[in-house]
Amino acid sequence: MSTPVRVAITGAAGQIGYALVFRIASGQMFGPDTPVHLQMLEITPALGALEGVAMELDDCAFPLLAGMTLTDDAEEAFDGTNVACLVGAKPRGPGMERADLLKDNGAIFTGQGRALASAGAADLKVAVVGNPANTNALIAAANADGVPTDRFTAMVRLDENRAKSQLAKKAGVPVAEVTNLAVWGNHSPTMVPDVDNAHLGGRPLPEVITDRAWLEGEFLTTVQQRGKAIIDARGSSSAASAANALVDHVANWCGGKPTADGDWVSMAVPSDGSYGVPEGIISGFPVTTDGAGSYQIVQGLELSDFTQEKLNATVAELQEERAAVADML
Ligand code: NAD
Ligand code: LMR
Repeated sequence: MSTPVRVAITGAAGQIGYALVFRIASGQMFGPDTPVHLQMLEITPALGALEGVAMELDDCAFPLLAGMTLTDDAEEAFDGTNVACLVGAKPRGPGMERADLLKDNGAIFTGQGRALASAGAADLKVAVVGNPANTNALIAAANADGVPTDRFTAMVRLDENRAKSQLAKKAGVPVAEVTNLAVWGNHSPTMVPDVDNAHLGGRPLPEVITDRAWLEGEFLTTVQQRGKAIIDARGSSSAASAANALVDHVANWCGGKPTADGDWVSMAVPSDGSYGVPEGIISGFPVTTDGAGSYQIVQGLELSDFTQEKLNATVAELQEERAAVADML
């Protein structure tokens, strides 16, 4: 057996945490041969609930679970961490936008950024889920002196998965037939699923789904508003699907599951200026990954006028969010 990957999960006793830790411990994030040590961070009042989660993890007798740390201290949680899943934050309730969480949740990520820099492993990688995820990742990166900025990512994979599922239903094909589907921009109602560069059964998607009005109307709105629709239906925000998307995100990035040849996935990563997205924000891009810790922004895609206009709007929103938290950067 190899050395365990030390995986930090913040908010491990919350809804997403509860859906996530069992999947990590069972090998779905890092593969069937890689043991994991779960380093679970919670706020002090939730440590009792976290004990319960740990008892259940014990009771699963997962062969890959090499150890657990339960703590309310970020430095302890991030000690030697290879991969940090930053989930712990307030979710929005009915009637709120994700941006409404900016100030409250942003403050969490200043301290956690500092703790990651001081305690994390040299190969530390960070995936932020807590909303507003892109800007929280930016805050954590800005406070993590000495950690390369490209190690900080945020999750837009749930949006990609949502879009793929809607497109597969519309075309009446299995979801695996939808590939090369990038989500640009912010994990917010301004996000842009890029149907023009997507493929369906190996063909350009617009050749198969020719209903442009649906693609630019109902489809787009459904994906952009899916988080709200789930809150309205469940009374609380998506959890199992969010955990699932994080498993996908990390598995592709550094869990031994590179993107398939010719395909790409969506990750929110620090912009290097590609596609005119200004440096200094963390935006959804199409990326290829090697499964061993590196990713590359896919170059050379042509954006339709429609997608470009939407990309400009989501980028403008990210810039506004950055300005709103300038004191935390
Ligand atoms: P939740 O309230 O069920 O759980 C959050 C947990 O975080 C709680 O147990 C809480 O005690 C803990 N927590 C709060 N502050 C903390 C801190 N400083 N350190 C460690 N733990 C802390 O919420 P949830 O449903 O699990 O959602 C968590 C976050 O993920 C929310 O911000 C939500 O909006 C976001 N989310 C993002 C996506 C995405 O696609 N990016 C999808 C779904 C939810
Ligand atoms: C989601 O997309 O389901 C999450 O970001 C939760 C939310 O507030 O929409």
